[in-house]
Amino acid sequence: MKSIQIRLMVISLGMFLIYSFSSNIQAQTPAAWNIPAKFKTTKNPVAAGKEAVSEGKDLYAKHCKSCHGSAGLGDGPKAASLEVTCSDFSTKKFQAQADGEIFFQMSEGKGKMPSFKKLIPEDNGRWSIVYYLRTMAAK
Ligand code: HEC
Repeated sequence: MKSIQIRLMVISLGMFLIYSFSSNIQAQTPAAWNIPAKFKTTKNPVAAGKEAVSEGKDLYAKHCKSCHGSAGLGDGPKAASLEVTCSDFSTKKFQAQADGEIFFQMSEGKGKMPSFKKLIPEDNGRWSIVYYLRTMAAK
C-alpha cells in the first residue's frame, strides 16, 4: 500500500517538474528582432582601430557588462535575475550579423534589453561598442 503511494508521489512530482520546465522554456524564448533591412549595409562611421576598441570597452564596462558579462558570454551578475537569457556575443551566429544590425539592437533595445539611444546619446559611442563586441568572437 505504502509503495503505491510513494510511486504516485514520484509520478506526480515528475509530471510537475516536466510541466514547470517546459513552461520555463516558453518564457525564455523572446520574440525575434525586427531589424530594418537598411541596417545590413550601414557602414560603421567610426574608424576601426585600437582607439575605437578602447572607447567601446570603457562604454561596455559601464553599460553592458552587468548583464552580458566581462567576456560577453551573457553571464553578468544581473543576468541571473532576468527571465530571459542575455545574448552570448562570442557565438558565430551573433558575429555573423552586420555592424549596423548590432548597432540597431543596442540603440533600440527589446524586452529586458534596454535602449541605449538616450543612455549613450553619441551615435559614435555605440558604433565603437560594435568594434569592441567584435573582439569577443570565440577564437
Ligand atoms: C539589463 C540587462 C542588459 C543590459 C544592461 C544590456 N543588455 Fe543587451 N541584452 C539583454 C537581453 C536580456 C538581451 C536579449 C533580448 C531579447 O532577445 O529579447 C540582450 C540582447 C542584446 C543584443 C542582441 C544580441 C543578439 O543575439 O543578436 C545586443 C547586440 C546587445 N544586447 C548589446 C548590448 C550592449 C552593447 C549593451 C550596453 C551598451 C547592453 N546590451 C546592455 C540584456 C541587457
